[in-house]
Formats: sequence, structure tokens, C-alpha cells
Amino acid sequence: MDICIIGSGYVGLVSGACFAEVGHNVVCVDNDPRKIEKLQRGEIPIYEPGLEDLVHRHVSANRLRFTGSIEDGVDHSEIVFIAVPTPPQADGSVDLSYIERVAREIAVVLKPGQYRVVVDKSTVPVKTGEKVDATIRRYNRNAEFDVVSNPEFLREGCAVPDLMNPDRIVIGSASQRATDLMKRVYEPFNAPILVTDVNSAELIKHAANSFLSLKISYINAVSAICEASGADVEKVADGIGMDKRIGRNFLNAGLGYGGSCFPKDVKAFIAIADELGVPFDLMKEVERINDSMLERFLKKMRDALWVLKDKRIAVWGLSFKPDTDDVRNSVAIELVRQLVEEGAIVTAYDPKGMEKAREFNLISDKVKLVSSPVDAVDGAEALVLATEWKEFARQDFAEVKRRMHTPLVFDGRNLFKTDTMREMGFVYCGVGRP
Ligand code: UDX
Repeated sequence: MDICIIGSGYVGLVSGACFAEVGHNVVCVDNDPRKIEKLQRGEIPIYEPGLEDLVHRHVSANRLRFTGSIEDGVDHSEIVFIAVPTPPQADGSVDLSYIERVAREIAVVLKPGQYRVVVDKSTVPVKTGEKVDATIRRYNRNAEFDVVSNPEFLREGCAVPDLMNPDRIVIGSASQRATDLMKRVYEPFNAPILVTDVNSAELIKHAANSFLSLKISYINAVSAICEASGADVEKVADGIGMDKRIGRNFLNAGLGYGGSCFPKDVKAFIAIADELGVPFDLMKEVERINDSMLERFLKKMRDALWVLKDKRIAVWGLSFKPDTDDVRNSVAIELVRQLVEEGAIVTAYDPKGMEKAREFNLISDKVKLVSSPVDAVDGAEALVLATEWKEFARQDFAEVKRRMHTPLVFDGRNLFKTDTMREMGFVYCGVGRP
């Protein structure tokens, strides 16, 4: 099928590459000329395992191309996906101006007799589809189209496998013609398809991300009870996770959730509920628990080190989670910021996130970035694990201990084994662990 994707960011680019992989012809559009030029040269603006190979292969096979023109994209495609940012505003509600602009731009390039399915893939508040529909009609009275909601559930760091093997495809549609076309788009993915009305599909995305955030805050709240009682949160999570109704996923206690989705989507869901006149206090508590995790962790560091000022502290991990170079809304970055604010001397290492942390000025010039985990711990009075990259668990800990001034480890993601660390002579402090 001929598919156009407007917005070549995370969701748009990965979706485009995966649609090409299953045999569709894809044109990705973006209004940033530099991004389009880069992509046309074969440069991939984000780090995502497997993406570069997919893009290169399908560009060579003429199944994937990039353009700055919405008209070019819409002209050649029966299905038009919208995958533009929906950033948060100061009050937590969603800024829908990019979606609105794209809806207008699509409207003016739609030609008479040219039926198009306009699919919203961006995460949007419930009832956005209705507004997109009304906007296109307002700017082009003769347009022939249907608006569909098709939320994307991919995770950063495993976006390609997530997209290729989704748990489910949600299609929110009021038109049989559009639903049939969407089913053809997704037929090659061999995944269960759930067809709903547009509003329900939009709500599914916010409800899913909020529920996962709730699971994380739940186990983080339990971790505080574990610390107060001497129980071990890892064992509690294993024990409750073995109940199939609960499941073990997203029950890892730590510094809390970050990234460009959960914090924003929880805020948005709270704002959406408020606007609809049905306040969602449960989610406010989820957010409060998440916000308290870093302070709880810093308190443990102060309890052990007394004063953080002038202490040499090594930080392993800057990205908001492993296997990504994304440092936006990363709790690790916020941790470094607060350590520097308190006067600590921070040396940090991250396998992929250091470049973007510097590029976006997210960490102070005072933070020394080094090229290996062991270099970070040279002379350190404490090591903090902030992001659970697998390579951190594989370090030579005898060497780490030798290089450190004091063998004190704060594990913000419960990556290391408590017994092993203590047997090696480290003073070890995790989250919710005795
Ligand atoms: C999330 C959703 O998983 C995905 O479906 C949606 O499309 C976008 O938002 P992502 O933000 O890429 O994906 O990362 P995810 O792996 O879900 O992790 C989010 C945050 O939660 C990370 O900061 C991670 O460290 C944290 N987390 C996750 C925990 O603290 N504990 C856990 O058990 C799981």
C-alpha cells in the first residue's frame, strides 16, 4: 500500500521503516529541511537498534523516501499518518497546535475525488479525532476522507521489535471503508487487531501509559515500606508478579519513571479528566510518588556521606533508560543536576547518552564526562548507578573497588546483586532492599 507519514520523529520514522519492511511504499514527511536532508543522505537522527539498517535497505529498494512536502506525500498515498509532537503545556495539558496545523495543511492539498484515510498516531487527548475531522472539513469543504485513531505503543530502545511484533493494533474508526484499509496496512504484522470507536482508541493510549506508570509508582511506594520494615522489594515484586493477573513487568523499583512519554502522559490524563469534570486523584498520587523518589534517594546519599559538597561522585548512566541515547526528562540527568547544585564533584559515563546531554546543555560544564565506567570511578567517594545499562553489571568490580577512594555504591535501579556486592567489600545501598 502507499503510505505517507507526516512527522519523521521517533514514532514517524520507526513506523515508516517498519511499514516499508513489510512491503508498503512509504514516504516520510517533515517540515525540518535539515532533518530531511540528513535522512536523504542516509543519516539517522536517533539511536534505535536496528533502525539504521532498515532505513538504508528500504531507501535502496525504493520503498522508503523522505520529502519536505506534505502535498507530495498526500498525493501519492491513500493512507496519511500524523505522527507529530504533542508536547505538554505549562499546566500539563497537551499542546495540539502541531496536529491542528497538519490537519489544515492536509486539507488544502486534498484534491477532489482523492479519498484519504487520515490516521492519528500521535498521543492525543480523547476527542482530538473529532477536531481533526472538523478542521479538515472547515478548510476543504469537498474533501473526501475519514479520520482514524491508531495509537502507537512502541518503547524507545526496542522500537523496531515492538513495532514489528506488537501485542495489539488499535484502530479507532467510524467508517468501514477506512477500517478495511487500515486492516490491510496491518495484515502483514500478524497481530491481534482491536477495532473501536475513535474516542475509545484515543483513550486507550493514555489509559495504558497511565496504568504502567501506576504500576511503577505502586512498587516504588511498596519499596518505602520495604525499607522501613527490612523486607526486600525485589522479592515482593517477584512474588506478586508471579500472579498472572498482576505480571512481573513494570514492577521494578528505582528512581522512578522518566522519558518523553510517562511523565507527560500522566500529566495529560490528569488534565483531560479535570477538563471533563471527573478529577483523577489516583493519578495525582502516582505523580507525587514518582516525584518523591529522587529526593528519597538523595536523602540516603546524605545519610551516608553527611555532606555532598566537595564529594567526588561517579554516576553511571544518563539516558532515561537503557538502550537509548534519549536524555530528555531523564531522572539520571536530574540527579546529576541536584548533585552539582549541592556542590558535589561529579564524573559521569553513559554508553550512548553523553553526546546529547552535552548538545542540549542538560548537564553543567562542571560535570566531567569520561569514556568508560571505570574511568568514572577513579578516586570516587561514591558510585551512583542511575540507568541500568547491562554493561554496568559486567564491570570488573575488583578494579572498580581498587580505583574508588571509598567503596560505597548507591544503586538507583537495583541492578547489582546485594550479596555479591557486599561479599566484594562494597557498602551497598539499593532501593527497597535491606
Ligand atoms: C513508554 C511505553 O512503555 C510505551 O508503550 C509508549 O508508547 C511510550 O512510553 P518508553 O517511554 O520508551 O515507553 O519507556 P519504558 O520502557 O516504558 O520506560 C519508561 C520509564 O519507566 C523509564 O524511565 C524506566 O526507567 C521506568 N521504569 C520502567 C521503571 O522505573 N520501572 C519499571 O519497572 C519499568
